[in-house]
Amino acid sequence: MACAAVYIGIGMPAMAENDASRNETATAPQATAMPDGDAGRGATMAHLCENCHGPDGHSLTSRYPAIAGLPESRIIERLTAFRAGESSHLMESMTRGLSDQDIADLAAHFSRLE
Ligand code: HEC
Repeated sequence: MACAAVYIGIGMPAMAENDASRNETATAPQATAMPDGDAGRGATMAHLCENCHGPDGHSLTSRYPAIAGLPESRIIERLTAFRAGESSHLMESMTRGLSDQDIADLAAHFSRLE
């Protein structure tokens, strides 16, 4: 809830009309076509994830998976799949406004945490 204001700042307009194409994109994982991740920029967006995944990706409850230190490719793959509408309602709404660059940067950041 508290994140709503910042969340809107991340690529929302570009992704707003993504709904119609969600099912098609779900079958085409884009991990290989991703831009290079910028961990520094990812760090500036990491606060969006902390309410659930904990400080620095160290989840404080078993309801949310820890994401610190996951392989970069896995984070990209999961975020891309969530954005495409797969499985988790929480993560779908969380990732809907993210661009490919945002996802790459977040993956670069969290994969480097321990
Ligand atoms: C509202 C709570 C919430 C927020 C905010 C949130 N997540 Fe999640 N996240 C979840 C839940 C719940 C799951 C487990 C979903 C599932 O497995 O279906 C998850 C799963 C993930 C996974 C997959 C982990 C794995 O081991 O497969 C990644 C990666 C991830 N989140 C990254 C992020 C990033 C990066 C952000 C910030 C942009 C973020 N999440 C924000 C709730 C949240």
